[in-house]
Amino acid sequence: MASIIKAPVFDTAVYAGRRARLMAKLPENSVLLVSSATEITRSRDTEFAFRQDSDFNYLTGFPEPDALLILQKSASGEITELLLCRPKDELAEIWQGRRFGPEQAAQQFALPAVSNEQLTQEVQNALNQKTTLVYSQGLYSKLDDLVSSTLATLRNYPKKGYLAPSQQLDLRPIIAELRLFKDEAEIGLLQQACKISADAHKQAMRQCKAGMWEFQLEAIIRHHFAMQGAREPGYNTIVGGGENGCILHYTDNNAELQHGDLVLIDAGGELAGYTADITRTFPVSGKFSPEQAALYQVVLNAQYAACAAVKPGNSTKDTVAAAIFELTKGLLELGILQGELEALIKEQACKKYFIHGLGHWLGLDVHDVGAYKVNDVERPFEPGMVLTIEPGLYIPKGSACEQKWWGLAVRIEDDLLVIKDGHLNLTDTAPKEIAAIEALMAGLQ
Ligand code: GLY
Ligand code: MN
Ligand code: MN
Repeated sequence: MASIIKAPVFDTAVYAGRRARLMAKLPENSVLLVSSATEITRSRDTEFAFRQDSDFNYLTGFPEPDALLILQKSASGEITELLLCRPKDELAEIWQGRRFGPEQAAQQFALPAVSNEQLTQEVQNALNQKTTLVYSQGLYSKLDDLVSSTLATLRNYPKKGYLAPSQQLDLRPIIAELRLFKDEAEIGLLQQACKISADAHKQAMRQCKAGMWEFQLEAIIRHHFAMQGAREPGYNTIVGGGENGCILHYTDNNAELQHGDLVLIDAGGELAGYTADITRTFPVSGKFSPEQAALYQVVLNAQYAACAAVKPGNSTKDTVAAAIFELTKGLLELGILQGELEALIKEQACKKYFIHGLGHWLGLDVHDVGAYKVNDVERPFEPGMVLTIEPGLYIPKGSACEQKWWGLAVRIEDDLLVIKDGHLNLTDTAPKEIAAIEALMAGLQ
């Protein structure tokens, strides 16, 4: 008997439950196609590390490329499931790696499975005579091409008994509503990813020194992720020393860290597809200057205020209002903004230095799926949602304020799970109080 390669991450009943919940949302006589991710060329005949498509992972846990999930709901509401995957292939497996093959996939993932050599026929059979086709059009060109040619065949040969679906639905907003509310299994993984990532930030604080390169700090973080089981980050790690911190998605990470500068690190490890998303900003040499401390404290106050507003019934309207109040008040007190508090809040004057959104949903994707508004109104937080709270202030050289503030960049980002009575902060073991950061960096913690 072939050896077991890898087990699904969760019990197969978890994935089956998700598929059932998804199919319950689809109309009778419909067919759903969900593609795995495809391998992407890095250079000639080498590929980037493979990462499974988040929707496909959510529904199957199956980790290979070149796979397709077909779910059908008959006119009477009966559900049938089929996984198409790569066949076993001795030569390919010697060169590229082991494959499950349909037999073992069916066993381990509790899904009927056949070889993807039957892709064209199985898709045609599944689409024929259905009223509604559901899939993510435009996401994978291979599937788009297959759908187009299958629809053409079904439309062109009615005399063979073919009938093409007459309507199409986009899978994305339907599955996004499910993914927005994390189940127990997902919360467990997110908690682990957050813990690993918070520890990695602490490690970076402990080992940071002037003269190191930004990418070396990145390496410390990634080493810690991997040693704890999160082999890849969920997004490219940002390590920005000094004014590089003002570049929001800075990933060059190729400058030397300077004594007297702050460094901004935005990094999260990915565990079985689920990512953390943490930002911490700290002084390269372990001690905040008075200006750095003053600006940092403004962002920290805003972050605390916004986090406090994360509870069922509130929405991003409340978190944003809380953050904007604290940022504006702080910038006014420091003389970076001038005028009258209420007027400055009204005209959103702090947005000159707070140049991005306050946060986003988090899960399988770092900027996770889920509508932010329903009927054009910010949706209330509900238990099971996970989101980031990440205010920041960025004062590039040449800004219209005293020069002593120029080049400073501060962002503080935590990951919050909404629960019945409020929220759980999943990343608060990464220090963010000035005294706690300085103590850690001085080796006192
Ligand atoms: N790491 C990307 C973000 O914070 O949105
Ligand atoms: Mn974020
Ligand atoms: Mn981030």
